[in-house]
Amino acid sequence: MSLLEVNDLVVDFGRHRRVAVDHVSWSLDSGERLGLIGESGSGKSVTALAIMGLLPGNAHVSGSVRWRGEELLGASDHDMSALRGSSIGMVFQEPMTALDPTMKVGRQVGEVPLLHRSVSRGDARGRVLDMLEQVGIKDPAKVADSYPHQLSGGQRQRVLLAMALVNSPDLLICDEPTTALDVTVQSQVLATINEVLDSVGAACLFITHDLAVVSHICQELIVMTSGKVVEAGPARAVLSHPEHPYTRRLLRAARLDLVEPGTTIVLED
Ligand SMILES: Nc1ncnc2c1ncn2[C@@H]1O[C@H](COP(=O)(O)OP(=O)(O)O)[C@@H](O)[C@H]1O
Ligand SMILES: [Mg+2]
Repeated sequence: MSLLEVNDLVVDFGRHRRVAVDHVSWSLDSGERLGLIGESGSGKSVTALAIMGLLPGNAHVSGSVRWRGEELLGASDHDMSALRGSSIGMVFQEPMTALDPTMKVGRQVGEVPLLHRSVSRGDARGRVLDMLEQVGIKDPAKVADSYPHQLSGGQRQRVLLAMALVNSPDLLICDEPTTALDVTVQSQVLATINEVLDSVGAACLFITHDLAVVSHICQELIVMTSGKVVEAGPARAVLSHPEHPYTRRLLRAARLDLVEPGTTIVLED
């Protein structure tokens, strides 16, 4: 049985039922890293939000999203929030809006185990400091006692990664996790995501519009355009022999050709 199975997922919005995700199917096994790529507006984030049960009220959803064989579409808020706090962690693009500006970050990360695991405050604190260290934060105690605005963008994104991983989820969903960072910081944070996924062994759904980014992280790729999956397969095959014209255009746009997954890519200009 797959860890996560999306079947014939359709999401549309509003009275005019504008389709954002159009009969999409794929699955993800335990420990697998799947890249979901496509340009802006292709339906990537809406797919992730549908999986997490976080779509706004004007969305209509149909099809099926199964987690370890159990249907998530239509699950209660209570069950979905329990799943989000324990089995599935998420990191989104905007580190500033995802953190509470009025609370020290150590407390924010610590609330996750406090809410979803029966741990003491002291144990939660210890877990937070360990996790901050694992995501590459040099001085975990100092960072834990800082407010979000006292940290750099890269540090904030590392804190969110720690928050997503602190309860040892089976799946990490990353939606453009480094897009808001500058390029050097971006590659450092990606390297950390790669390392931490190796060490915790979680599966990953990695969403990006950036082919260079995805080739570092994922073994499998899905390409979306206008809400539809147009290509899917092993990253190496998709990047070296793209079959769909849209994928070829994406590759050309990124000026990538015949990329070996895992190689460092230097973009021209
Ligand atoms: N809350 C919403 N209401 C109406 N349309 C939406 C909403 N959220 C997203 N959309 C539309 O759904 C489509 C897919 O969006 P999205 O999944 O965010 O794209 P991306 O691939 O860039 O993540 C877009 O056309 C977007 O305008
Ligand atoms: Mg998006």
